[in-house]
Amino acid sequence: MTAPLIDPFARAITYLRVSVTDRCDFRCVYCMSENMTFLPKKDLLTLEELDRMCSTFIRLGVEKLRITGGEPLVRRDIMQFFHNMTRHLESGALKELTLTTNGSQLARFSDDLYAAGVRRVNVSLDTLDEKKFAEITRWGRLPQVLNGIDAAQKAGLRIKINAVALKGFNEDELPRITEWCAERDMDLTWIEVMPMGDIGNEDRLDQYWSLNDVRAEYEKNYTVTDLAERTGGPARYVRLEETGQKIGFITPLSHNFCESCNRVRLTCTGELFMCLGQEDMADLRAPLRDHPDTEEPLERAIRAAIEHKPKGHDFDYSRQKVDGQMTRHMSHTGG
Ligand code: GTP
Ligand code: 5AD
Ligand code: SF4
Repeated sequence: MTAPLIDPFARAITYLRVSVTDRCDFRCVYCMSENMTFLPKKDLLTLEELDRMCSTFIRLGVEKLRITGGEPLVRRDIMQFFHNMTRHLESGALKELTLTTNGSQLARFSDDLYAAGVRRVNVSLDTLDEKKFAEITRWGRLPQVLNGIDAAQKAGLRIKINAVALKGFNEDELPRITEWCAERDMDLTWIEVMPMGDIGNEDRLDQYWSLNDVRAEYEKNYTVTDLAERTGGPARYVRLEETGQKIGFITPLSHNFCESCNRVRLTCTGELFMCLGQEDMADLRAPLRDHPDTEEPLERAIRAAIEHKPKGHDFDYSRQKVDGQMTRHMSHTGG
């Protein structure tokens, strides 16, 4: 038996998020600056290296694998990687293979994703207004994403919409987005905006819309019941009794959930970040590349890294200023 990955706070690490590219076909204002410098291709892990990395984590007890970016579906030949991971679903070692996407490429890839064993996809979408969508994503176009969602549902994929709660931006759309998700039988999760990356043009405090307030908005029109169920991610769910719909809340600012953290993040260059909100990272590319014939050095490096997983993030807006700001952009680790 291989010993599971347990961190210093007795948390078992069973969820790996893998960013397969730092590139994206959108430029969301809260995530990227307009002129981003991207990594040279030679620094990226190859698809074979990604396979070795993920397979080693799975051997060490990872049961949930989420592919992220940037936008994961803009990486060339990425479907090959999904198909490579199918064997771990078939063996039963992996319980879930999934991705978080901006939806722009779903029309092309949904059938293939389903064939690879993906059953659930999280799509980031903050507004249903075409003009506002173009504004917040800079390069994105809403109809393309809506087509992608249609294709994904036709292919049999279950969709969860992730919306970043942004004061003065999508506050007025809460009923519309909620009803739209209910009509299409999609789950919906709201996320509090985190101080990730120097994006220059935005003020996080002005943007911040606490999910306590979002919940209060729902309570004006619905009976809101807390649910115990979890998906292995950080969201806490409620049910709106009138529609039966499930709404998730990801509340790094208003309710810290780090004590139940079960995840680490691998970047496209093989850095392992132990926490989204801390700088601590370990290079896994060297132990992987330097030892093409054995995974032992990689396994040792992973175990050593997990021993340094921090307790949690230090994000805090409660003193009327932004604490815990990270210089790293969200696109570096894929959220
Ligand atoms: P489910 O499997 O559907 O529960 O997904 P998930 O919530 O694990 O993944 P998703 O990619 O949808 O995550 C949504 C967002 O939640 C991420 O992009 C981050 O913004 C945020 N998030 C996820 N994990 C963490 C975490 O460990 N800490 C913090 N602060 N935020 C996180
Ligand atoms: N705060 C919270 N969520 C963010 N995302 C990107 N940047 C931020 C931020 N600063 C979200 C995206 C997507 C996921 C990958 O992370 O909207 O849903
Ligand atoms: Fe791209 Fe996602 Fe960042 Fe938007 S939030 S720029 S879609 S990586």
